[in-house]
Amino acid sequence: MNILIYTWIHIISIVLLVIGFSSLINAKSAKEECVAGLRKMGAIFQGIGLLGLLVSGFGMMARLNLKMAESGWVHPKLLIWLLLGVGIVALKRGWLPSKVAYAILTLLIAIAAYLGIFKPF
Ligand code: HEM
Repeated sequence: MNILIYTWIHIISIVLLVIGFSSLINAKSAKEECVAGLRKMGAIFQGIGLLGLLVSGFGMMARLNLKMAESGWVHPKLLIWLLLGVGIVALKRGWLPSKVAYAILTLLIAIAAYLGIFKPF
């Protein structure tokens, strides 16, 4: 597949992930009748977002001929991907206050984007 299509999927996946996270965070303080819908939407968007990021990430690596061992910046991105996955569980179980969840989400996305753009190591 064309590298630009992978990049496109990568960016869309980030947006879906953020929408998914926001839905789950908002479900905490939403009215009773909205909670189930927000949780369902959150789970779907996050699932598609996380899957899309991984598939497009590895797709870009293949197209750009990037090897795992030579691309140190990919490793923390994979860790961030895992942390975002753990974040879903944390939100569903109510472990994180909303403000903390938003702060962590923003930070993780910012770091992952930095790594993808600047490739510092
Ligand atoms: C966890 C959330 C992630 C975010 C927010 C994120 C964000 C980004 C951004 C903003 C770019 C720059 C796109 C561009 O150059 O046009 C990028 C590039 C890239 N990302 Fe990610 N990414 C994430 C996860 C991943 C994962 C899990 C992988 C690996 C499996 C990955 C592999 C790559 C690759 C290979 C590139 C292309 C670098 C290049 O153009 O040379 N990313 N990412």
